Amino acid sequence: MENFNYSIPTKVYFGKGQIKNLAAIIKESGNKILIAYGGGSIKKIGLYDEMIKILNDNSISYVELSGIEPNPRIETVRKGIKICKENNVEVVLAVGGGSTIDCAKVIAAGVKYEGDPWDLVTSPQKINEVLPIVTILTLSATGSEMDPHAVISDMTTNQKLGTGHENMKPKASILDPEYTYSVPKNQTAAGTADIMSHIFETYFNHTKGVDIQDSTAEGLLRACIKYGKIAIENPKDYDARANLMWASSWAINGLISYGTNSPWVVHPMEHELSAFYDITHGVGLAILTPHWMKYSLDDTTVFKFAQYGINVWGIDKNLDKFEIANKAIEKTSEFFKELGIPSTLREVGIEEDKLELMAKKAMNPYFKYAFKPLDENDILKIFKAAL
Ligand code: NZQ
Ligand code: ZN
Repeated sequence: MENFNYSIPTKVYFGKGQIKNLAAIIKESGNKILIAYGGGSIKKIGLYDEMIKILNDNSISYVELSGIEPNPRIETVRKGIKICKENNVEVVLAVGGGSTIDCAKVIAAGVKYEGDPWDLVTSPQKINEVLPIVTILTLSATGSEMDPHAVISDMTTNQKLGTGHENMKPKASILDPEYTYSVPKNQTAAGTADIMSHIFETYFNHTKGVDIQDSTAEGLLRACIKYGKIAIENPKDYDARANLMWASSWAINGLISYGTNSPWVVHPMEHELSAFYDITHGVGLAILTPHWMKYSLDDTTVFKFAQYGINVWGIDKNLDKFEIANKAIEKTSEFFKELGIPSTLREVGIEEDKLELMAKKAMNPYFKYAFKPLDENDILKIFKAAL
């Protein structure tokens, strides 16, 4: 196990009715807030009205930024910063999924930055002071509710980039699984795939002696496999929604990656798909992941794929290691299909013409340290296999 510095400062209020703590949480940091939200799902489920009543009853003043788009745009970040500056906002409250929370994070950082916020996306080291961020999560997927990251797009240049800073970790997050009952089947499936991908990105590493991280990751994966299906069949199954919500946070809050070391590779590849074709993040991941797994399987990596097959999918440990690994990859692919996720790039409108360009843009020098080292040509081969 490698050295690490533990820091997960987000206070989590988990479960039914936890919104009752909203006013007290906000008042710890200020009295004037920006409410950031998306295209209106929070109004349909009654959360908006519930929240506004609490704010009014507690004399918390607010301004709003609505219409944050899935794959949030830098233009919307700029709009949010302007609203905050004009109204001396003290706290940013993000109510929604990962897109809303990510947008809110860069707004909160941008208010304290003199230049254009795109600088903070391309150069995270420029992030310094950040307004306090509070979240109310409505979609289990990205883990943004408990992590330092934000992913912002500039569609005019086909760039979708991740940034991050310790100070962008939310101060507090309200995680009430009931708010996710209304998440449609396709978003529930994509969210489950995203959570699983975050786990895969850290689990597949060569670090020795990380039994705690490995067994926790395997348990989270088993929970996603069990409850992902249940949530799709019965959207109001509380335990399914609760397990997915808590898995979303654990997958990326640091607990399973501390002490391990492996650069993420499937995410940078997927971000290119979203940057050029504006597809749903989790769908892109589910399409690419089995192909990345197949491509990564060799003598140096088979040990971990076999461990995954035995501990996550219950495959007979007495079989040949490559047989276990291949069965595990097949089961992963089948699972995403069972959730109703498309399994080829063509199904989501992606053709061959931009694959080379996207492979070039996805390439990162750190990929040579990946679980299976990759170069631009390898990425292109994975894209082609997924076509
Ligand atoms: O906009 P509204 O009306 O709220 O509708 C949203 C949106 O259309 C809807 N939705 C959310 N909660 C709902 C609901 N519909 C019904 N009932 C509810 N309770 O779902 C749609 C998708 O929402 P979005 O926020 O885009 O989804 P998600 O949470 O998957 O976020 C995806 C974004 O996060 C980034 C992705 O790249 C993508 O831009 N990521 C952020 C990460 C992070 N911060 O750590 C890591 C991830 O790997 C990921 O890259
Ligand atoms: Zn993701």
